[in-house]
Amino acid sequence: MTAPSVGEGVRMQIVELTPDHAEDIVTWSYPEPDGCYDLTGMDPRHFTDLTHGFWALVDGERLIGYRCYGPTARVLGYDYVDDALDIGGGLRPELTGQGLGQTAIATGLAFGAENFAPRIFRVTVAEFNVRALKVVDSLGFLAVDKFESPADDRTYVVLVRDA
Ligand SMILES: CC(C)(COP(=O)(O)OP(=O)(O)OC[C@H]1O[C@@H](n2cnc3c(N)ncnc32)[C@H](O)[C@@H]1OP(=O)(O)O)[C@@H](O)C(=O)NCCC(=O)NCCS
Repeated sequence: MTAPSVGEGVRMQIVELTPDHAEDIVTWSYPEPDGCYDLTGMDPRHFTDLTHGFWALVDGERLIGYRCYGPTARVLGYDYVDDALDIGGGLRPELTGQGLGQTAIATGLAFGAENFAPRIFRVTVAEFNVRALKVVDSLGFLAVDKFESPADDRTYVVLVRDA
């Protein structure tokens, strides 16, 4: 756990992802065009399996998002080199579009630096997701590559930043 960071009045902290968190996460559905990020119907055990690297992003007792570290944060179809820590995640649907993303991702980066001590952070973002690209750009990530994923035929951008 790291010290809480504050964004738009929300105190964000990363904690262990519990079975209750996982039951909540598998109900999350995003309005279009973000429907591809829906987590509805997934097995909650996917999120509590420690080998998958999921952590809960909370404001006190309230689950406001999740962060994911390691290979689970990768997207099918790219030849990843093991020189960076992959990070992914999302806010709960009703909290998107309110300017919380930058603090959410920054909180996740601080946690990643403290717990995994990587040299480089890496994120993989769908090219259509301008909102997410703006947030990672604001945090200093630079695009290094692009590819099309056979998982959904979308184009993804690979971005890195020194940790
Ligand atoms: C991606 C995510 C972290 C972004 O955080 P957020 O709090 O929703 O984003 P914000 O409201 O801060 O918006 C970020 C920027 O994008 C802009 N924006 C929002 N929607 C936009 C759109 N459709 N087109 C262009 N810009 C858009 C905002 O105006 C803001 O710009 P600014 O920084 O110049 O003010 C969050 O939406 C999320 O977790 N979504 C879940 C699904 C997802 O996208 N997952 C992939 C994560 S890599």
